[in-house]
Amino acid sequence: MNGRQNSRKDLVALAVVAILGAAQPVLGFHDGGVARCSGCHVMHDTSQGLVVAVGPSGEPGLLVGETASDVCLQCHASQYGEVLGANPLLPPVERGGGNFIFLVEENLNDAVDGATNVIPGETGGHNLVAPGHGLAADARLSFSPGGSFPAAEMGCTSCHDPHGNANFRHLYGAGPVQGGLAFFSSPAPDAEGIALGGAGESDGRHTAYRRGMSDWCGNCHGRYHDDVLTPAVPGGGDPLEHPSDEVLGLETRDRYNAYNGDDDPAGGTVATAYLAAVPFEDPASTTSTTFGAGGGSRVMCLTCHRAHATSSPAALRWDFRVSLLAADGLVSGSYAIPSPYAGTSQGTLCAKCHAAGAAGVAGAPGSALPR
Ligand code: HEC
Ligand code: HEC
Ligand code: HEC
Ligand code: HEC
Ligand code: HEC
Ligand code: HEC
Repeated sequence: MNGRQNSRKDLVALAVVAILGAAQPVLGFHDGGVARCSGCHVMHDTSQGLVVAVGPSGEPGLLVGETASDVCLQCHASQYGEVLGANPLLPPVERGGGNFIFLVEENLNDAVDGATNVIPGETGGHNLVAPGHGLAADARLSFSPGGSFPAAEMGCTSCHDPHGNANFRHLYGAGPVQGGLAFFSSPAPDAEGIALGGAGESDGRHTAYRRGMSDWCGNCHGRYHDDVLTPAVPGGGDPLEHPSDEVLGLETRDRYNAYNGDDDPAGGTVATAYLAAVPFEDPASTTSTTFGAGGGSRVMCLTCHRAHATSSPAALRWDFRVSLLAADGLVSGSYAIPSPYAGTSQGTLCAKCHAAGAAGVAGAPGSALPR
């Protein structure tokens, strides 16, 4: 008997429990309440009662949506932490992951060459195969840069376990993912998210990143920026070589904690230095901490990127192709990512960690990444 038949057998057993079981405790949707199988799967009436008609991963007839991602988006497009939305110029409230609606933007390039050198929205993040919601696989990238995950199979369930688990945001840990399509070697990150309802991300309400995010992203990307041979940058330019999982040195910490925007680059205080737009990992982090960087703080992938998508090429947290953040959206007509600092003279947020003109450091205030 093969594995698929095995899981079908388990499934029948589960379904019978659902019928015979007395009152179900009130569970969250992904807490494994068997009665909730029908939220995602087609149910069949058999002699044993209601049985979930499930087959191998991705068999569309057995899911309530066209693809796994379409199923998730039936609930998560515009509620429960809404991660898609409908209009890229009016995106849903930001809760940390970023919103997939930016993938449908026509052009993200706000640099001087923006009108002639179009950088399509699909460069803005992870392209899901969700035809029922107007999303398709990335046409430029066939595999995860730095790794080998197939873009043609990319979906919510490449990262999130549809049947729920104890990890941060139900992310997969080490082991097989998406029905065995890939195998993760690193565990899920240690982190805690904010509630899916209510207010969105702010400097005092944000994901608490603690440890392991770069290793987790590395399940599909390796240590992307460690290698100078990284693929070409969308729209042209040199790839960035940068540490992705390194403790911030004293100088960088002091800079992070003092920096309060280009108009006030040394006036900040450590008690309020945390910037949700430029987060770091720290084992002591909480979802409401405003405290700046300490001895255990690290730079990680999500210091610069968001996990889902953004209105900047390469899913970056701010547009790295403009010198001044106020120019974001102007040339391309795409969504302008809100600047965390008031004033029109604010430059790149690399400045939170790197002083202007610091030797050998690109992306200092007033300059976009050199390219
Ligand atoms: C939140 C949506 C969701 C819920 C709820 C859900 N499933 Fe699934 N299930 C999926 C998706 C999506 C797949 C396809 C595999 C993938 O994409 O990883 C799947 C696949 C399966 C498979 C095939 C083997 C596998 O793991 O790939 C079985 C068996 C299964 N589900 C059983 C159940 C049972 C039993 C319940 C109720 C206890 C349930 N599912 C509830 C979304 C869900
Ligand atoms: C029928 C509606 C429904 C569907 C379909 C659905 N979800 Fe959810 N999801 C919810 C609700 C309600 C919550 C909040 C309650 C909870 O956490 O259990 C939630 C919570 C989540 C969370 C946050 C969990 C946390 O504790 O932080 C993630 C991540 C998530 N869903 C991913 C998915 C993915 C991936 C799929 C598709 C496989 C999916 N959902 C399908 C309703 C749904
Ligand atoms: C399950 C595998 C998988 C995981 C885990 C994963 N990615 Fe990806 N990523 C891909 C694939 C496949 C692509 C290429 C297809 C695409 O862009 O949609 C990609 C593309 C990207 C891109 C380029 C986007 C573009 O279109 O230019 C960035 C940046 C990125 N990933 C960052 C991250 C970060 C940061 C994490 C951790 C939060 C992460 N990835 C986790 C598979 C993964
Ligand atoms: C490349 C991996 C990846 C893919 C693909 C992905 N997610 Fe996520 N998702 C994450 C990570 C990592 C977080 C935590 C982000 C953070 O807090 O910085 C997250 C956060 C979330 C949250 C919490 C709210 C928020 O905005 O942070 C929900 C809900 C969610 N994902 C649902 C989905 C759904 C539904 C899909 C498909 C439409 C999806 N995710 C696709 C990795 C992924
Ligand atoms: C200091 C900020 C920073 C950190 C930290 C960082 N990145 Fe990047 N990333 C960038 C910038 C800027 C670009 C665009 C320029 C380039 O491609 O080098 C980029 C580009 C990428 C791309 C290529 C996008 C494309 O379309 O070709 C991938 C994939 C990626 N990063 C993944 C990661 C992963 C995975 C991590 C953590 C292991 C990470 N990044 C950490 C800033 C960062
Ligand atoms: C959270 C803090 C943080 C942010 C934000 C940040 N960096 Fe860094 N960067 C570091 C750390 C830590 C190092 C390692 C050297 C050190 O301690 O100064 C580093 C090193 C560098 C180096 C030298 C790399 C090498 O291999 O020699 C460059 C160039 C650089 N950063 C550019 C950038 C650019 C461009 C951005 C914005 C896209 C950026 N950094 C954002 C923390 C950060």
